[in-house]
Amino acid sequence: MPLPKPVFYPPFNITRASHAVITSRDLEASRDFYEQVVGLVLTDRDADTLYFRGLEEVCHHSLVIKRSGSKGHECEAIGMRVLTDEELDKAEHFFKAKGLPARWIEVPHQGRTLLVNDPAGTPLQLCATMSVMPRLYTQFQDFKGGAAMRFDHYQVPVTDVQTQTDFYAEMGFRISEYMALDDKLIVTFMFRKHSTQDIVFLENPGPRLHHFAYTVSDSHSILRACDVAGNLGFGDSVERGPGRHGPAGVFFVYFRDPDGHRVELFCDHYALIDSEVEPVLWDMSKPGLSLRWGLPPQECWFTEATHFSDVPVVELDGKRGPMATLENYLADKARARAAQ
Ligand SMILES: [Fe+2]
Repeated sequence: MPLPKPVFYPPFNITRASHAVITSRDLEASRDFYEQVVGLVLTDRDADTLYFRGLEEVCHHSLVIKRSGSKGHECEAIGMRVLTDEELDKAEHFFKAKGLPARWIEVPHQGRTLLVNDPAGTPLQLCATMSVMPRLYTQFQDFKGGAAMRFDHYQVPVTDVQTQTDFYAEMGFRISEYMALDDKLIVTFMFRKHSTQDIVFLENPGPRLHHFAYTVSDSHSILRACDVAGNLGFGDSVERGPGRHGPAGVFFVYFRDPDGHRVELFCDHYALIDSEVEPVLWDMSKPGLSLRWGLPPQECWFTEATHFSDVPVVELDGKRGPMATLENYLADKARARAAQ
């Protein structure tokens, strides 16, 4: 299980995970959920599209929700920012040199946008600029639900975590923490901005979008999001947590939105900047290690995820996936009960 070496001077400069484009069967229900429960700001809308941003964000959108067609709910693409327009041309060259798809697309409120697919097929929008809006993070009187502050990361299940990790390392992503089982990479947390993650890969059928995540100010914001969800009829949308992860030590909750897309609210991760810091290993053969406290995930947390538009999902072909963590956790609890 060779971990890729950090690439401190990558071929082009991705700065962070920035936005997701998903579809919905009911835009009004989506608006209610993301405004009232998650606490995002509706920057703009038209008849078929909602554009949201977090309270701390100045760029036009970090979540775009389009009215879904006959295919139901999907993710059209996840988005990454590059530092300047020049980096987009370098990115086009990088992807084409590897024989991977790269084409220019027009996206409202974004500057030049390059749509690429990584080796697993994940569709990525790369852009350097967006329209700029007011930052609302001190408009306390208008805060709603979890008062989500800023877009942070995605989790993308793939069948080959090693290949995906090696590719993103070449693009300058570093590993903050990782999970391994039998000397094999099962989960990698990779980052470009100065925190623990921009994108997380885990071994499961894919590529799919497992969740996207927003940061909140504190643990109370997470509890308030849950309370608001309960009062507004979204109580069943609380899928997992609140709890505290082992990796990155974050306090978290996962919701399923009205279409079934999964969104995480979290706080408490750490800053990661210095070059000499080594990735943290979580050995998945040690039961229960990946969750500090909280109930174990429901099985659907491991098995259900959003499909990417027009991207086929590859199955695991009988290999072990993250279900092993759930099995280990439950076995550990059963052994502890038996020993009492
Ligand atoms: Fe997450």
